[in-house]
Amino acid sequence: MCGIVGYIGNKEATPILVEGLRKLEYRGYDSAGVAVLKEGKLQVIKAEGKLSFLESKLLGKNPTGNIGIGHTRWATHGRPSDENSHPHTSCSEDFAVVHNGIIENYMELKEWLEEQGHIFSSETDTEVVAHMVEHYYKGNLEEAVKMTLDKIHGSYALGVICKNEPDKLIAARKDSPLVIGIGEGENFIASDIPAILSHTRKCYLINDGEVCVLTPETIKITTISGEIVNKEVFNVSWDAEAAEKGGYEHFMLKEIHEQPVAFRKALSGRIAENRVKFEDFHLPLETINKWKKVYIVACGTAYHAGLVGKGIFENLLRIPVEVDIASEFRYRRPLVDEETLVIVISQSGETADTLAALREAKNKGASVLAITNVVGSSIAREADFVVFIWAGPEIAVASTKAYTTMLVAEYLLALYLGQLKGVVSEAEAKVIIDALHSLPEAAIRVLNEVDRYKEIAEEFKEKHDAFFIGRGFDWAVALEGSLKLKEISYIHAEAYAAGELKHGTLALITKETPVIALCVQKNTYDKTLSNIKEVKARDAEVLAIAIEGDTEVGKYVDDVLYIPDIYNFVAPILTVIPLQLISYYAAKARGCNVDQPRNLAKSVTVE
Ligand code: F6R
Repeated sequence: MCGIVGYIGNKEATPILVEGLRKLEYRGYDSAGVAVLKEGKLQVIKAEGKLSFLESKLLGKNPTGNIGIGHTRWATHGRPSDENSHPHTSCSEDFAVVHNGIIENYMELKEWLEEQGHIFSSETDTEVVAHMVEHYYKGNLEEAVKMTLDKIHGSYALGVICKNEPDKLIAARKDSPLVIGIGEGENFIASDIPAILSHTRKCYLINDGEVCVLTPETIKITTISGEIVNKEVFNVSWDAEAAEKGGYEHFMLKEIHEQPVAFRKALSGRIAENRVKFEDFHLPLETINKWKKVYIVACGTAYHAGLVGKGIFENLLRIPVEVDIASEFRYRRPLVDEETLVIVISQSGETADTLAALREAKNKGASVLAITNVVGSSIAREADFVVFIWAGPEIAVASTKAYTTMLVAEYLLALYLGQLKGVVSEAEAKVIIDALHSLPEAAIRVLNEVDRYKEIAEEFKEKHDAFFIGRGFDWAVALEGSLKLKEISYIHAEAYAAGELKHGTLALITKETPVIALCVQKNTYDKTLSNIKEVKARDAEVLAIAIEGDTEVGKYVDDVLYIPDIYNFVAPILTVIPLQLISYYAAKARGCNVDQPRNLAKSVTVE
């Protein structure tokens, strides 16, 4: 994900910026750049690829100056390239901007600016900010930035400098992290604390709607409308490694807790007046109507997301959907042709089996749509259409926020196709969209139950086997829950369709095999209760995951975790979160390497 660092003081800015960017490398990026100001000259140097490429370029150009901004970019709008890297400048090259987030209305702003004669040199949404600041600038940078903020929609952490005001660094935030580092005779901005930790431990944590004006000696924080904001200094007590993890003990835990923000990002800019739209493509109705069947192909967690997808697409589109494991798909002569839509799902966009399945599907004439996290990945490049999940980089090997944002993407995609085909009514779309919008708050409530997850994990830590059961969507989520437990805690776990247990597997249930029973889906609730009774009769200890207000299930099980009662059709996104956290705390209690489990790699590029 993108990273920002900025400096104003009496030292050379460039080495401080590069060092700060290096500290943000762990977040993942595909290009980097700096803008440094000296004696009315703005020097901008940027390079696609690793920071070392930028450093080589800097050696040749040697930009000097005591004020500057730097950025590592993780491509969203526009492929990774020198031109699309930040900082972006205006036509006059008087202004330079770094930005994290997404400017949702950039297309309309870009058109408007082009009508005013502005010429754009990148494909990014960010560049509009530089041109707008130039448009509004009448000798006061702070004013011009605030006028720009009034007009942009979306999320941002911004850093702005101007050739005419070399003693000022402006920063602003909405829905994207921003901190101000307080130094002596120098001040800093950063998207994350690690970028500035070697210079200061005193920070201001900036909130949404706040604008900061930094000089070497002063920091002024106001709202966009100009009211002064007084803040307490935040003293950072974490070491550098903990700071990278945002104070969390592991990346996995950080990523689990990032889910509410990830949901907001995944929805951002994609819904207007209860209709779904995607930034990168519009599908003609003839293309959609041509598809008689859908295949979803993926591996591991992404495959489990596909199993939920089957329920989503079949329910909303009333079209047959098959879900296949990518490594199986191409070897069984799949019945795929021009009338098939193949959806490949891959967080990394590089999984070899999924890529091979994509190529196989294309060879057979199918349309291929990718759901992925990584812009510029092989899968994103080779698919006909792409829906990005906007989860931000996932560093822990065990996938968490990518899984839930894959689900968000599937709901959006099904709504989009259903609305175009005219098979999803406005009323139905509204109910689902309202539920999707309620996800971040609901997820925060689920995440708040940390003590309960720890307590349950303590009970699991001595076990050798566990079962996850459920029906329908609950079964699909059970599969993901069992994979999480297996891969990070090394406890053997099985997920079973609850009604299928008695056809053989029930023989394995004893009082030593805890069962996690998912009782969230209302249409199968009574049936799942019966299955719970079957395992209880074999002495299993049962933990149920149920919906708040359920007074029934507690009578039959040993313990219940309740999740908020959101519209049942989108509940899988919430149901999985307690399972992620129980797995996390069980793995931690067993002393496992949570972020890098044995034998596993984050990106599987071999077949
Ligand atoms: C498990 C996990 C893996 C991946 C699988 C596919 O937590 O992360 O099962 O889901 O290797 O990876 P992507 O989504 O990158 O294709």
